[in-house]
Amino acid sequence: PVLVVDFGAQYAQLIARRVREADCYSEIVPHTMPAEQMLAKDPLAIILSGGPASVYADGAPGLEEGVVTAGVPVLGICYGFQAMVRALGGTVERTGSREYGQTDVTVSGPPSTLFTGQPEQQVVWMSHGDAVTEAPDGCAVSARTPGAPVAAFEDDERRLYGVQWHPEVLHSAHGQEVLVNFLTKGAGITPSWTSENVAEGLIEQARAQIGQDRVICGLSGGVDSSVAAALVQRAVGDQLTCVFVDHGLLREGEAEQVETDFVEATGVDLVVVDARERFLSALAGVADPEEKRKIIGREFIRVFEQAARDVVRAHEPGGQEQGEAQGGADDHPVRWLVQGTLYPDVVESGGGSGAANIKSHHNVGGLPEDLQFQLVEPLRTLFKDEVRQVGLEIGVPEGIVWRQPFPGPGLGIRIIGEVTADRLEILRRADAIAREELTAAGLDREIWQCPVVLLADVRSVGVQGDGRTYGHPVVLRPVSSEDAMTADWTRLPYDVLARISSRITNEVEEVNRVTLDVTSKPPGTIEWE
Ligand code: XMP
Repeated sequence: PVLVVDFGAQYAQLIARRVREADCYSEIVPHTMPAEQMLAKDPLAIILSGGPASVYADGAPGLEEGVVTAGVPVLGICYGFQAMVRALGGTVERTGSREYGQTDVTVSGPPSTLFTGQPEQQVVWMSHGDAVTEAPDGCAVSARTPGAPVAAFEDDERRLYGVQWHPEVLHSAHGQEVLVNFLTKGAGITPSWTSENVAEGLIEQARAQIGQDRVICGLSGGVDSSVAAALVQRAVGDQLTCVFVDHGLLREGEAEQVETDFVEATGVDLVVVDARERFLSALAGVADPEEKRKIIGREFIRVFEQAARDVVRAHEPGGQEQGEAQGGADDHPVRWLVQGTLYPDVVESGGGSGAANIKSHHNVGGLPEDLQFQLVEPLRTLFKDEVRQVGLEIGVPEGIVWRQPFPGPGLGIRIIGEVTADRLEILRRADAIAREELTAAGLDREIWQCPVVLLADVRSVGVQGDGRTYGHPVVLRPVSSEDAMTADWTRLPYDVLARISSRITNEVEEVNRVTLDVTSKPPGTIEWE
């Protein structure tokens, strides 16, 4: 791998993603990892990330000399650049001139490795107080800014490189080229991390891990569980059983997407549990959002547990109920559970080096003693965009691969008030129209998601034809976001809004008003409940 050493800012994940975008596999490791352990991973290159500290601060994370003297190509970025300079015997000073934000930099042309093929004047994203005033011995200075006399250095012989700015952020105009130059020219890596290779590798790994055992997977209809299941299906075929709990809170067409499209495309063995009635009864009379969420979560676990138990029992060696021919004495026990854990979860729960991580344990934490599975997590090295690419590669339907985020409790938390079958039907129709029009306008990739919310306990007067109506409002909640932690309301074109509004009020009789939510997050959350 290309190791990205995390010096504690938010940049390491971004760097790791950019390296993957350059078709090189990357892994994030904490700066506290001893050099010996880093080298034991046989890195093709090491990138030192930026960090919040000053190299002068007490307890500022240092860099073991071993990292830069082992002969592995190294690129230092920002804080990592300064830490590298110190380890190599150059000079970092408090020059008193801070540079923050977009900065003009002058770079050298050939024979520079990092900047070959780029304009001499570039705009880059800076964020530093201290500056390198003297490059380490043997290193050529290849970029300058007004505030940083040594803004980049290169040493082709030892394959050591550094830049003061952040090439990984989009504000650095030629940043990705700098990274690609380092990886391919500086470190001599042949890019091979393509979705085809990745899919193949993951399938092989899953096959080796599972062996002859049986494996179970809960499908939600979302991207992660679908791609994970499809990979495992490719690996072990019908040793995999998928369970889909239809809680009746999905949007129009979503259950069919799983039960028909997904099954046809991947050939997975699917058990569908129709729990629609059960969820409706459990939710009867409940209007409080937290209580609804709790009920939906609890029922979901119970239904899934029962289904899992049934699958396990059906494959107990020799324990086949009703003595069916399938299974029997030579059948293998269900030992594995597929989880769609992604790389950011792994990194964020501190499990970057392969230790069992906290998050996935949480996910199976609800299962009782007699259902202890080991985890298969085929996506644990992937970022979301890579999951989508791999999904497309192995034939997961596009409608699932590009599905926008949808909450586990589904439409249950988009009906403000009690959830009933009629209300679900109304919301489903309104939501389908909104989605159809947004898709037709080509806006799907631009919008993070667009919940449609039914204000089921509110009524307002309207007029249609010659008649008075007394119907419900729906709210459109289109948002733009990077990660759902913060969001802004999307400025949808008026004509698209007009079409959605006119179609919903015409086609969904019970709705006589369409409103637009223009609140950012914070203070509003994305969902209304
Ligand atoms: P909020 O409403 O908290 O939503 O701004 C942030 C993102 O999370 C989704 N969401 C959920 N996803 N289970 C989920 O799997 C949930 O209980 C849940 N609640 C909210 C929401 O759709 C948005 O993308």
